[in-house]
Amino acid sequence: MEYSDIADDLTSVLVTEKEIHEKIAELSRRIEADYAGENLLLVGVLRGAVMLMADLARELKLPIEMDWMAVSSYGSGTKSSGVVRILKDLDSDLQGRKVLIVEDIIDSGLTLSWLRTNLENRGAASVEICALLRKPDAAKVQVDVRYIGFEIPNAFVVGYGLDYAEKYRNFRDIGVLAPHVYA
Ligand code: PRP
Repeated sequence: MEYSDIADDLTSVLVTEKEIHEKIAELSRRIEADYAGENLLLVGVLRGAVMLMADLARELKLPIEMDWMAVSSYGSGTKSSGVVRILKDLDSDLQGRKVLIVEDIIDSGLTLSWLRTNLENRGAASVEICALLRKPDAAKVQVDVRYIGFEIPNAFVVGYGLDYAEKYRNFRDIGVLAPHVYA
């Protein structure tokens, strides 16, 4: 889906498809340098990270494996409660593995903070994070992210895997959702 297909639902385009791909190439060169000679495991967090995982994995000139987790925050009715439930677990054994978590966005940071500890406790040799977007103003916990694409304002963003009520994930750019859509 392109901008013209959903223009009425957006207030602006924040990051274009071209900018996303240039950033992924830039991050990939750093990842290749950092993991040269290693058998890297990319762990994608469903569902938002699907687009980033697909593009990052193909851009990397490294032998990689891919695995997936689905997690859900629950507790007090808000998604960023910090209490995380595993909906789908990894198939891989992490013992001694170098792991790179691939995530679309860091909002409060609670999901990734929990996830990193969870994967470290499975005996991984290292657990690092690659996130395309981060909202510094929404942070409730600080997460050490080695590879970060763009820092963005605390707005409701959709596209490139990010949804509102499961829609807009297939929008090619990343845009700010117009309030009339969710108000
Ligand atoms: C989003 C995103 C992260 C999490 C970030 O997932 O993909 O996993 O929220 O929020 P946090 O930093 O406040 O913890 P979401 O729960 O929307 O699921 P989805 O990926 O299936 O859209």
